[in-house]
Amino acid sequence: MRALTTFDDFRELLADPVRMSAFRRAVFETVGEGDVVVDLGAGTGILGFWALQAGARRVHRIEKSEAIELARQVAAHNGWLDRVVLHAAVSTEVELEPADVLLSETLGAWAVDENTLPFTIDARRRLLRSGGRMVALCARMAKRTPQDAEPDPPA
Ligand SMILES: C[S@@+](CC[C@H](N)C(=O)[O-])C[C@H]1O[C@@H](n2cnc3c(N)ncnc32)[C@H](O)[C@@H]1O
Repeated sequence: MRALTTFDDFRELLADPVRMSAFRRAVFETVGEGDVVVDLGAGTGILGFWALQAGARRVHRIEKSEAIELARQVAAHNGWLDRVVLHAAVSTEVELEPADVLLSETLGAWAVDENTLPFTIDARRRLLRSGGRMVALCARMAKRTPQDAEPDPPA
């Protein structure tokens, strides 16, 4: 899959109201005042952005693609560069202070199909402190066939 690097690449993700409201709610329910937060696969940095609004002391944004520059621009535009540390790297190569919260939306269409599990498990083991919190914590998959679809309402 081609790397997402521009705002246009992220437009569809950022315009998905179900994804955005679910993750926003989860971040505000999980991040507390003074937390150190890791945003793994930061993209534009939206998850870390909410973490800062929720009171995070510091957010480590890890992004392996050129999208790290978007994350830097968003942080600079909002005057948050003093609370954001940018890591232009694959997460498995990053070393950090122990974090209170690990945020990550690196899910593929089939949840873990983009090789998500190995680097998420690595991040949980190495970057998150014992007893730390995670978003997303689990994924539930459901099968839906065309026969399950609601019939169209009468015209
Ligand atoms: C689906 S996008 C989500 C971006 C952002 N978190 C959001 O919710 O809008 C996933 C991003 O994670 C990055 N990524 C995936 N695996 C990574 C890894 N192991 N280390 C660093 N970045 C990674 C990709 O380059 C991509 O920009």
